[in-house]
Amino acid sequence: MKILAIETSCDETAIAILECKGDEKHAEFTVLGNTLLSQIEIHKEYGGVFPALAKREHAKNLVPILEATLEEAELLHEDTQVISEEMHANISLVLAREPGLAEAFFEFVSECEPPRIDAIAVTAGPGLEPALWVGINFARALALLWKKPLVAVNHMEGHILSALASEQGESLLIQDVQTPVLALLISGGHTELVLMKNWLKYELIGQTRDDAVGEAFDKVARMLELPYPGGPEISRLAEEFRKLGNETSKFTLPRPMLHDATCDFSFAGLKTAVLYLLKDKPELSVEEKKHLAHEFENAVADVLWKKTSRALEQTGAQTLVLGGGVSANTHIRRVFTEKMRSEYPHVTLCIPSATLATDNAIMIALAGFYRASREEFVTDVRANGNLSLAPVR
Ligand code: KG4
Ligand code: ZN
Repeated sequence: MKILAIETSCDETAIAILECKGDEKHAEFTVLGNTLLSQIEIHKEYGGVFPALAKREHAKNLVPILEATLEEAELLHEDTQVISEEMHANISLVLAREPGLAEAFFEFVSECEPPRIDAIAVTAGPGLEPALWVGINFARALALLWKKPLVAVNHMEGHILSALASEQGESLLIQDVQTPVLALLISGGHTELVLMKNWLKYELIGQTRDDAVGEAFDKVARMLELPYPGGPEISRLAEEFRKLGNETSKFTLPRPMLHDATCDFSFAGLKTAVLYLLKDKPELSVEEKKHLAHEFENAVADVLWKKTSRALEQTGAQTLVLGGGVSANTHIRRVFTEKMRSEYPHVTLCIPSATLATDNAIMIALAGFYRASREEFVTDVRANGNLSLAPVR
């Protein structure tokens, strides 16, 4: 089955085409085409993602990205197409709220044969709704014109599945996953522990009561006058600190909710602690920023690990997944790898490769495959900024 997947939930416009084989026990994926355009440079100026701008950029980028991905997958065949008036009118309606997109869409599709794909997958949420809508309406328009079934994907399921995928030569394999699977999902909008007892059925074990961990990284980075997105910048400074053989920081930050009996998190207090610290000492030297970045990253990693180990005990999980943009963090990856080896050697740890950790369309295709295999096709998709994986336990 060939799946074309579209991701526009935040500040990355991404399309991928995957050849998918197998079933829920053993699936094999080959990436035929994959294009990703990051809007980081555009949002940098605002210190964060600006939704209206993200929407505009997605609308501008989707057609060129689609063309590039089809071409890479060798599925682009030019041929003049006749689009009936009725079809034209229906698609114009679907794309009515995406200025500029309809024009580029018709120009492209009227010169391109419907590609030999079997389904279209699109992120329905969670994310920024204006951004999600562009991808959704684009996917609906393509599905309508090319007469392809459509699947709505939960972005967080994509993060989980990309962690479960292991690279084997040119392919990605998802096989023999031992359940229960516990997933620690850490991104710009999420910090949650989710349990998958049965394949693709989720239960919420814990979540942040305030800020997401990626948000805390980004806000603290902004306080330190580091560019957006702040996560990789803080990580870079903290790693430089460690490389110098330093261990103790001259700053001490709290580990919020470390000893509380739940698997919930809180990062607002950590962020505020940095704010107070900077009130007393507004001008930090580069050296001091490294100290602070190091202490902040350690505090985050301590809390994430403590809560995850609590959840591992509670659930008896056989597999632990790290997913979401923050799982690209070198220190967090290292802490989890070491702790799992020493404390839970019988539990398999799955961390996505650095390129699959942050948002991309390959992960949407993986989730799309399982949903399409279950024939969970939809005729209509709505953006849901707060789409959740699991009911609260
Ligand atoms: O999953 P993702 O790409 O987008 C969302 O769905 O939110 O996650 C983005 C978040 C941002 O907050 C970014 O600062 C953070 O992931 N991030 C990192 C690193 N790379 C990305 N945080 C810490 N260390 C990193 N290396
Ligand atoms: Zn994400």
